[in-house]
Amino acid sequence: MRYLPSALLLASFVAYSRARGLPLSRSRSIDVPDTKDASVLILGGGLAGVIAARTFHEQGINFTIVEARSELGGRLQSFKFGAPGKEYTLENGANWVQGTESDAGTINPIWSLVQAHGVNTQENDWDGSMTTYDATGQVDYLNTFNESFDQFESLAIAAGDRVNRRLVDLSSRTGYSLVGAKSRSAHSLACEYYQLDWETADTPEKSSMIATAAAANFTYDPDFGGFGDDNAMCIDQRGFKTIVQKEAETFLSPSQVLLNATVKEITYSLQGANVTLEDGRVLEADYVLTTFSLGVLQADDVKFTPPFPSWKQEAIQSKSMATYTKIFLQFPTKFWFDTEMGLYADSERGRYPVWQSLDHPNFLPGSGILFVTVTGDFSVRIEGLPDSQVQDEVMGVVRSMFPDITVPEPIAFHFPRWHNNPLFRGSYSNWPPSYREAHQLNLNATVDDRLWFAGEATSTKYFGFLHGAYFSGLEVATAMANCIKGEGCVVPTHIADVVDPPL
Ligand SMILES: Cc1cc2nc3c(=O)[nH]c(=O)nc-3n(C[C@H](O)[C@H](O)[C@H](O)COP(=O)(O)OP(=O)(O)OC[C@H]3O[C@@H](n4cnc5c(N)ncnc54)[C@H](O)[C@@H]3O)c2cc1C
Ligand SMILES: *[C@@H]1O[C@H](CO)[C@@H](O)[C@H](O)[C@H]1NC(C)=O
Ligand SMILES: *[C@@H]1O[C@H](CO)[C@@H](O)[C@H](O)[C@H]1NC(C)=O
Ligand SMILES: *[C@@H]1O[C@H](CO)[C@@H](O)[C@H](O)[C@H]1NC(C)=O
Ligand SMILES: *[C@@H]1O[C@H](CO)[C@@H](O)[C@H](O)[C@H]1NC(C)=O
Ligand SMILES: *[C@@H]1O[C@H](CO)[C@@H](O)[C@H](O)[C@H]1NC(C)=O
Ligand SMILES: *[C@@H]1O[C@H](CO)[C@@H](O)[C@H](O)[C@H]1NC(C)=O
Repeated sequence: MRYLPSALLLASFVAYSRARGLPLSRSRSIDVPDTKDASVLILGGGLAGVIAARTFHEQGINFTIVEARSELGGRLQSFKFGAPGKEYTLENGANWVQGTESDAGTINPIWSLVQAHGVNTQENDWDGSMTTYDATGQVDYLNTFNESFDQFESLAIAAGDRVNRRLVDLSSRTGYSLVGAKSRSAHSLACEYYQLDWETADTPEKSSMIATAAAANFTYDPDFGGFGDDNAMCIDQRGFKTIVQKEAETFLSPSQVLLNATVKEITYSLQGANVTLEDGRVLEADYVLTTFSLGVLQADDVKFTPPFPSWKQEAIQSKSMATYTKIFLQFPTKFWFDTEMGLYADSERGRYPVWQSLDHPNFLPGSGILFVTVTGDFSVRIEGLPDSQVQDEVMGVVRSMFPDITVPEPIAFHFPRWHNNPLFRGSYSNWPPSYREAHQLNLNATVDDRLWFAGEATSTKYFGFLHGAYFSGLEVATAMANCIKGEGCVVPTHIADVVDPPL
């Protein structure tokens, strides 16, 4: 190990210890010159960017949103799907309000937006409306399904115990083994996938035990400030993006948004920043707030000059950008399960496992639409294949799920390629076992006081969720506004080296 002066070692140790317990809140004050006319560029017009803009608007601060796509919404992306005359608006990206409102009244801000803009959602029963399948057809293994629910609970309790005792993080795979969930049967693994990968979009090996459990608690468990365990699915035919676009209409003027504007380079210093667009335009600003996805920051799609300091690079590369892929199929008529959900256990874990019926009285009855979700490396694999080959694989699974039915070819087929999309590079962030809370602090931290970071991945409690993007946009823009107005400026700072305490 590298030599460290003892004072520094002590400081790092204190920082480390605090990182294992209560959330760190490190900050420092800066002098802000010429505050009144400060201008802010918000890079990215997804949920975090629009909520940041609303915050600046309320605080009377000038801003411009710069967005590469032709509309606001980011990962809220709807599209038209279906054969001619049987078309429906569906969601390539986020689809559910996860946790709506607890009995005690803690409300998910996404649920508030849904209500404010009259967006049509339906409660989706993930636990109690399930039909199970394997390669031989329909097989009832709901007892295993119920057991896996309890096993995730055991994992969460064991994780909470590790937090209380300040023990190091482990992978969810290790955690599962330690609570005795060791079965490797196809049925068990499909049920485990449903509990874990279907949420984290990554395997238990690649997901932190503590963060995975804590994230579920923060969102769903009212004892942890969560919003209750209902999941409301958007079936609004204007698209889920309506929550962002209608909210933007309440305060945003067209002159405050640049659409079709792809950022190529950001040059920053302690004095300000210049943002160069792909078409050559250069925008000058006193402050920049980037809301680009973690995947975009990881992939060098946007050039930062000077390059990020090493603590920032380590934080960016240490979290993972997972991929969650919904594959949509439309058939002339429904021939499948009447429950809301279906689970398929292949001999290969994660091979076309989670099925959902939209042709259901609660969703889009008569639509003939069914979709299946894959995640992680499996998503990356299919993104490299032509649609026709993926369709063949999926249809092979459908035919083994329904051996007694002559299954027709689909009349429409579609899946998005999030991992290879240069504006996203995946679907949402996931917290791997080697990622420390100090890394999270550094991911959020400001560089040179003028470059600030928001977006789903910067949320410690709600990363991966719409409400994580919402809260990050709100919190970071509020902190920036305080700095710009000279009212108790608090800049999120970093830890230079993320270290382990000496043995
Ligand atoms: C498939 C999928 C399913 C999901 N399901 C759910 C769900 O059911 N419930 C839930 O709560 N969350 C879900 N999420 C997560 C949720 O969508 C995100 O957490 C949230 O939308 C992220 O918002 P954001 O503002 O942080 O980032 P983004 O929405 O990614 O906004 C960043 C913006 O930056 C723009 N941009 C990128 N690069 C450039 C550039 N070079 N120049 C200019 N602009 C650029 C992008 O176009 C984008 O609009 C899902 C996500 C995906 C992809
Ligand atoms: C905002 O920008 C306008 C036009 O550039 C300028 O006239 C105004 O003073 C600015 N307001 C603030 C609060 O900076
Ligand atoms: C953005 O580009 C699309 C085509 O890609 C175009 O239809 C739209 O009008 C453009 N919007 C703006 C604001 O330039
Ligand atoms: C599974 O759990 C649900 C809800 O707790 C219960 O209604 C159902 O009977 C259980 N099924 C089996 C097979 O254990
Ligand atoms: C999650 O919640 C359960 C109670 O439902 C609790 O026992 C556990 O400690 C919590 N785990 C974490 C990591 O917060
Ligand atoms: C931005 O560009 C202006 C004009 O060219 C220049 O004076 C300024 O130093 C640049 N700022 C940064 C941070 O590069
Ligand atoms: C950023 O991370 C730190 C450390 O975990 C946390 O205290 C802070 O609240 C985070 N910021 C956001 C917006 O979640």
